[in-house]
Amino acid sequence: MEKIKAALAKVKSKKTGFNTGGNASKRTIVKTNKTNRDIGEINYTNTTVVKLDAAHLEKNRIVSHLSHNANAGIFDSLRTQILQKMEENNWQTIAVVSPTPESGKTLVSINLAMSIARQPQKTVVLADFDLRKPKVAEYLGIAVEKSINEYLENKATLEEVLVNPSIQRMVVLPTMRPVHGAAEKLSSSKVAELIAELKERYESRVIVFDLPPILSADDAMILLPQVDCVLMVIANGVSTQTEIEDSLHLLPKDNVAGIIYNMADSESKPYYY
Ligand SMILES: Nc1ncnc2c1ncn2[C@@H]1O[C@H](COP(=O)(O)OP(=O)(O)O)[C@@H](O)[C@H]1O
Ligand SMILES: [Mg+2]
Repeated sequence: MEKIKAALAKVKSKKTGFNTGGNASKRTIVKTNKTNRDIGEINYTNTTVVKLDAAHLEKNRIVSHLSHNANAGIFDSLRTQILQKMEENNWQTIAVVSPTPESGKTLVSINLAMSIARQPQKTVVLADFDLRKPKVAEYLGIAVEKSINEYLENKATLEEVLVNPSIQRMVVLPTMRPVHGAAEKLSSSKVAELIAELKERYESRVIVFDLPPILSADDAMILLPQVDCVLMVIANGVSTQTEIEDSLHLLPKDNVAGIIYNMADSESKPYYY
């Protein structure tokens, strides 16, 4: 915790205008869509529907599909603060990043998306854009034939690669295998079209992108200009203070929806800034 505080203080003291995403203790009612109306039952007739295995999810620390789980509560409060910030700024898409690997990005992306989906006024897409080390499908226990891999190779349409994990108001865009030339793919017009198409589908839709670490490759920095805001995950003991500072400097300062300090205590509960 001290390391991130020190890194933040240093970045802020340089008067970069860095914005950490507001005060975590501030609680106001979130207006979740323009009409604030519940979205009725969605029939996923054109979307592949898969059933998730509860034991597999638990083993992988995925909790947010459960409304009465203590750890899900942590993600619900994160969701509330993130959605509030997104609503205030008219942001629809959020990228989950970290300075270095193994910080908990994928875990946070999945739990955050599930928590958003439990809000009756929202629908959510979780897109696995960590094309080098895609893990969303593995953590969820999803095995499908057509995924982002096929979409990028022009072998499948968006409709064919969307997966409903038997959770209302949630679809997943899995990447089943590492993608060769990930940085080039992410800067291609194909990816720009994919993002545009996802955004156009429903006004109430939040799109969560699970991205690679900022400092490992260009991928995250290539995609960030196409995404409205960023959620930074910093894991206790994983990144050095210099790595944290370097990545904070690289983020678009006015578009940081929040910073999470993950694996912060013995119970490994994430903290939100
Ligand atoms: N809060 C946490 N407590 C305990 N383990 C965690 C926590 N967050 C992530 N992990 C574990 O750390 C590993 C890396 O997480 P992952 O989400 O794959 O990171 P990333 O996507 O940043 O590489 C996984 O094994 C995950 O289960
Ligand atoms: Mg990951």
